[in-house]
Amino acid sequence: MWKGRFQQQTAALLQTYSESISFDWRLWPYDIEGSIAHSAALEKAGLITAEERSAIVEGLREIGSEIEAGKFNFRPDLEDIHMNIEAELTRRIGDAGAKLHTARSRNDQVALDLRLYLRSECVALDSLLSALQSALVELGERYSDVVIPGYTHLQRAQPVYFAHHLLAYVEMFQRDRERILDCRKRMNVLPLGSGAIAGSTILLDRHLVAELLEFPSVTHNSMDAVSDRDFAIELLSALAIAAMHLSRLSEDVILWASSEFHFITLSDAFTTGSSLMPQKKNPDVAELTRGKTGRVYGNLMSLLTLMKGLPMTYNRDMQEDKESVFDSVDTVKAALGVFAPMLREASLNTARCAEAVADPNLLATDLADYLVNHGLPFRKAHEAVGRAVARCAELNCELNELPLAEYQAISELYGADIHEVLQVQRSMEARKAVGAPSPGNVAAELSRWKALLS
Ligand code: ARG
Repeated sequence: MWKGRFQQQTAALLQTYSESISFDWRLWPYDIEGSIAHSAALEKAGLITAEERSAIVEGLREIGSEIEAGKFNFRPDLEDIHMNIEAELTRRIGDAGAKLHTARSRNDQVALDLRLYLRSECVALDSLLSALQSALVELGERYSDVVIPGYTHLQRAQPVYFAHHLLAYVEMFQRDRERILDCRKRMNVLPLGSGAIAGSTILLDRHLVAELLEFPSVTHNSMDAVSDRDFAIELLSALAIAAMHLSRLSEDVILWASSEFHFITLSDAFTTGSSLMPQKKNPDVAELTRGKTGRVYGNLMSLLTLMKGLPMTYNRDMQEDKESVFDSVDTVKAALGVFAPMLREASLNTARCAEAVADPNLLATDLADYLVNHGLPFRKAHEAVGRAVARCAELNCELNELPLAEYQAISELYGADIHEVLQVQRSMEARKAVGAPSPGNVAAELSRWKALLS
């Protein structure tokens, strides 16, 4: 492509070192789409005839079908997807193909391809996230009356509906969707027409190209347009956060599936056994997802580090952006894809949950609230319940077994009705604040999400 300036062939070693076709080939649909739109602007500017444009469009479509069918021969000596497609087009249709790169550089071309690719992946990610949210809502609905201990510091804290716990993740994934669709807005700007760095002396109608490719706007600075990868960094950052959420959900699933918790049972189809220990049933989906979060973070760090020292404008370093971008998109899509069916097939061990939630210590705060309702300042109520808990430890009993006389020795505000306070159902009914897990609130949230996700 640059033989005019050179007397020697590129060293085979450099060809191997510098090729990107082995990974950027997958940008082919976007490269073709972009070239088809570009050719419309060339025709409008009178640089190619209508016949030449038809030959270009037809040739590109043929090449596209061959790539899709796995029949296209990618040449590493042609470096990347852009030159592979253009060279093959020119081989097939001659001079019309050789005119395609007028007023265009691979610098604005690759920026365009990447934006087009990620723009469509944002939509795919959004629907996978939505499917996962639906799986969480369905699981919550299936066990809508099950209460489990909620934890802080992984110590039993207060009772919550299992559905409330799942809906916490639905909220997180909703924010992920918002972040992804928000960064898609800034991604959705046409860079083509920026040339290598300074546009071109040949004027093309950028707005026509934007319209054909469904970009609502065009970039305003050619230097920024060819050297900007913010849109990819933003998406990788949103994906890192989504992966963190998936990893936390994984950790909950792993804990819940352990013999110690035994809150859930995962289906055989989404677990694996051990080659040695016959009894094992391992939560590999969750473990792999937790593990893969590392590479999703790594990809974000790679891209940020790749960009930090680059002088304006395009530098070849930027070719290194692709593998990180592809890997984060592929990894998060795969994790979302397998998590939803795994959750759909999970079952809750309701007897075990009931046993765990029967721990009266989960209602110690309710007891303090009871004393507050009888006029004691909260700090003093906290202490009066703390002393009851300590007394239980001494007597080796639970809060609901401690005799009333023992309670009253601590505070005369304790009445015979404290045993009603130590009822889980009553405690749940009382948690009516917006966002808190009363049965009514949780049911309303489940149906709100169901409607939103349908
Ligand atoms: N393969 C290159 C990349 O991915 C395309 C742009 C090449 N531009 C250039 N001036 N060498 O970044």
